[in-house]
Amino acid sequence: MAVRAARLQGRQTGIVPTMGALHEGHVSLIERARVECGFVVATIFVNPTQFGPNEDFTKYPRTLDADLQMCEAAGADLVFTPSASDMYGQHAQTFVRVTKLSESLEGAHRPGHFDGVSTVVAKLFNIAEPDRAYFGQKDFQQQLIIRRMVSDLDFPIEIITCPIVREADGLAMSSRNRYLTPEERATATELSQTLKMAQKLAAETQLSAAEISQRMQQRLSGTPGIELSYALIADPETLEPLEDRQVTAVALIAARIGKTRLIDNEILQFR
Ligand code: PAJ
Repeated sequence: MAVRAARLQGRQTGIVPTMGALHEGHVSLIERARVECGFVVATIFVNPTQFGPNEDFTKYPRTLDADLQMCEAAGADLVFTPSASDMYGQHAQTFVRVTKLSESLEGAHRPGHFDGVSTVVAKLFNIAEPDRAYFGQKDFQQQLIIRRMVSDLDFPIEIITCPIVREADGLAMSSRNRYLTPEERATATELSQTLKMAQKLAAETQLSAAEISQRMQQRLSGTPGIELSYALIADPETLEPLEDRQVTAVALIAARIGKTRLIDNEILQFR
């Protein structure tokens, strides 16, 4: 009702879907929406269907009071905070699956994860009827999957992907960073350092994408305290691993540090 009232006043709606435990990365999406849209909806919902049975759903940080303050300060007009039963009736039988793009990388390590994501985002889009939706490059595969879904299912929504917001030492901001012990937090800087190394090798040497991927893997596997899931250079649209140099590529990393799984990525320009 609030969105429709705003639309009647000629305001365009932007939506920023989140799972809460907000940080400056989330805030940057709300601020961008505030600049570009007349009505800004943030959503906070720790979506059970995108967590695996052995993942951190129950201990995922929930900081609603602080989140609401941050949403207001960043300029949100409305914050939608549904319960699990609001979102999923007992008899739900329908879900959205983006096939190929969901199968590799995060999808391979977290079976079913992206089905949960695409389904809940489709539901949020239907509930809020936004004109634009804001996602972070931080979850590179996720924003590609949402773009595919929007195109395939004809959602009349423009997807905007916003840059990764980082801590001063380069660590990509994440709600999960608060799980890290001080020692793990120090180790975690290796991820963004490795991406910087890849960027430099792409720009300043003639190494192939496969060779740079190998150096990323060697560096991370050789770091005590890091359990590497993957590190590679891929095509930024298909996520297929690259052998050769191509003008634009994406370097993607996922690794476990202690019990915490972290992801990061960087767009690479080959000369
Ligand atoms: P969540 O992890 O809370 O992230 C919400 C949005 O914030 C995502 O689009 C994510 O890419 C973006 N984001 C996270 N960290 C960022 C950073 N350091 N810089 C810029 N943007 C960042 O992603 C989800 O929630 C869920 O899967 C969701 C899309 C809400 C569906 O449940």
